Amino acid sequence: MSFERVLSGMQPTNTLHLGNYLGALKNWVALQERMECLYCVVDLHAITQDSGYGKAEALRHATREVAAAYIAAGIDPDKSPVFNQARVPEHSELSWILSCVARLGWLDRMTQFKEKTGKHKERASVGLYTYPVLMAADILVYRATHVPVGEDQKQHLELARDIAQKFNNDFGMSDFFPLPEPVISGPATRVMSLRDGAKKMSKTDESDMSRINLTDDADTVANKIRKARTDPEPLPAEPKELESRPEAQNLVNIFAALGDETVDAVVTRFAGQQFSAFKSELADLAVAKLTPIGAQMRRLMGDPAELDRILSAGALKARAIAEPIMKEVRKAVGFLS
Ligand code: TYM
Repeated sequence: MSFERVLSGMQPTNTLHLGNYLGALKNWVALQERMECLYCVVDLHAITQDSGYGKAEALRHATREVAAAYIAAGIDPDKSPVFNQARVPEHSELSWILSCVARLGWLDRMTQFKEKTGKHKERASVGLYTYPVLMAADILVYRATHVPVGEDQKQHLELARDIAQKFNNDFGMSDFFPLPEPVISGPATRVMSLRDGAKKMSKTDESDMSRINLTDDADTVANKIRKARTDPEPLPAEPKELESRPEAQNLVNIFAALGDETVDAVVTRFAGQQFSAFKSELADLAVAKLTPIGAQMRRLMGDPAELDRILSAGALKARAIAEPIMKEVRKAVGFLS
């Protein structure tokens, strides 16, 4: 079998939510059984939008909390290194080299940058603009082949492939960097806001009712699902009929992903029923699946020294993989080192 390695990461900005869990984290846990995996908390990415005096402690807290979420969801740090990006300086070093490989025109096409900055592009940090280059470095510094993410990261991964290909061509290293494959799987690759089916569930939405946080208690989870926006129609008999009903479709996708079922199976079971009945079962399912993760996160957060130990041990293992790869990169580029 050809070589396979998984790398993925999440930003420590606010608490993780159901979209992060169903779109990515749940798949990370499953991949551990099949491939070598590394899971990173991307603290360097987290400072592209919000950093400065008085924010350091919040970043440290959020970094530990994301690591706690990984472990609480089922990542085994003894098997899959869990570490924060800033502790592995090879990410930043490769990012600089790759920023000299990537073309401005490629970055200009990134839709997430446009969404995040809106009309105020000139006020955004340079780091926010080059963010996808750092993401490519995160992946390529381990020569990772597979990257499990939600749908919103697809364009960034296409860019990472383009950068890998151009590096290989420019430096005459034909297969040096593998072209990383996105792994976007399951029925909930794009979880939408519970308040607006046209908006992605997001850590930064001002309404907390729009998302289910992994740290929400049982009452909060059930209440948010009860209050989630739907339309007045009952559930349809065919999944296709959900296409024009984004809020309804979102809840069905969430149900299927949480229960490890197909959308077809969920639709067949609830066909013709009112949303009140469906939501009450969804609330029970969400509480059963999510609140143990929240409880375990709280336990892990009770011992920050242990989390720091896990993150620093993970970084050592990650550096042991990245350093020989960087040696070859430095040599290919022509740095005396
Ligand atoms: P981030 O921190 O925004 O999100 C972490 C992961 O959660 C997924 N996700 C979602 N999936 C489904 N529905 C949603 N509503 C939803 N919201 C978020 C994201 O797709 C992602 O998989 N740039 C990345 C972090 C990153 C990274 C990397 C990922 C940095 N370096 C290297 C993979 C490999 C980001 O900001 O994700």
